[in-house]
Amino acid sequence: MADPANPLSVPAPSGVTGVGVGTWAWGNQFLWGYDPAQDEALAACFLRAVDLGLTVFDTADSYGTGRFGGRSESLLGGFVEALPPARRQGLTVATKLAPFPWRLGRRGFERAFEESRRRLRGHLDRVQLHWSTARYAPWQEGALLEGLADLVEQGRVGSLGVSNLGPRRLRLVHERLARRGLRLSSLQVQLSLLAPDALAADGVATVCRELGIELLAYSPLALGLLSRPPGEGQGLPPGPRGLLFRRLRPRIQPLLQTMERIARAHDAPMAAVAINWCRAHGALPLVGLRRVEQAEAAAAAATWCLDDEERRDLDRMAQRCEGRMPANPFQSG
Ligand SMILES: NC(=O)c1ccc[n+]([C@@H]2O[C@H](COP(=O)([O-])OP(=O)(O)OC[C@H]3O[C@@H](n4cnc5c(N)ncnc54)[C@H](OP(=O)(O)O)[C@@H]3O)[C@@H](O)[C@H]2O)c1
Repeated sequence: MADPANPLSVPAPSGVTGVGVGTWAWGNQFLWGYDPAQDEALAACFLRAVDLGLTVFDTADSYGTGRFGGRSESLLGGFVEALPPARRQGLTVATKLAPFPWRLGRRGFERAFEESRRRLRGHLDRVQLHWSTARYAPWQEGALLEGLADLVEQGRVGSLGVSNLGPRRLRLVHERLARRGLRLSSLQVQLSLLAPDALAADGVATVCRELGIELLAYSPLALGLLSRPPGEGQGLPPGPRGLLFRRLRPRIQPLLQTMERIARAHDAPMAAVAINWCRAHGALPLVGLRRVEQAEAAAAAATWCLDDEERRDLDRMAQRCEGRMPANPFQSG
């Protein structure tokens, strides 16, 4: 039952989700300080994640900056290819195609799709529209979506997802695909204790539940802000992430303190509390991983759940929190 005193309260999901793996950092120098010397650690992280039963891997054709363009897909494709075939069974590799302004018309993603599939060595299960063009080129989106639906119909990819769509557009896309007898499998949006809007009563989580669309929570750790204990904030990351941390950390101390209390009660790291708050709301968190110990922490989080009181405490703290993650500028209504 929804709790009117708690605007984030949602009916309990029928099944508790697992944890997915995000690969934005694999190839991104600007925000994540990627260096090819990290590839061995990324391979080890991937293998550990698979060993521990994580099955969903999210990438994008725009992940990888400058000369590392497409690197995330290439690395992921290489890692999956190196697995013995039996261990590839049950993995879901999902990529996102970017609706750049030059990708127009129903066949606008054709080349991008083939390039992604090549980088991923054919290991591609789901294709997703990376963001909505509703705010700046509303005419572009429909044709591109029809093109993605063509790929599913032609059997070239197994399923179709979208990202950064709001509730109104999500319904429209669902209806558009349903008219062709096709299913929209997933929506991914920013969702964390510092970005809880998707869980509002009129938010996308409600629409996903109603229409049977899987909800994927991206940046569930708020780029790592939510995995660090409260306090002075020594050793902040370099570059733009450090600037964000410096701006937000002073405003989110009460939330971090509540998270720390819950983490202690479960003898778990802070990251597990942030991950499990998404799971408690029926979303599959896509956790950005790049080290073995992070894969282990993400997998360990999936072995326990928040109780109702802990979830409600966190809901309240998220609502009151004075720091919020910047919204994605391409998120539609
Ligand atoms: N659709 C979209 O528009 C969109 C946008 C953003 C992200 N995404 C997807 O969502 C995924 C996840 O989001 P994200 O990468 O933005 O950030 P995130 O998952 O919120 O944070 C990832 C960072 O948190 C830290 N971390 C991870 N596990 C940890 C642990 N156990 N303990 C302590 N720190 C830990 C790591 O930072 P350090 O390595 O620095 O410690 C890691 O790089 C992306 O990789 C991508 O696949 C999609």
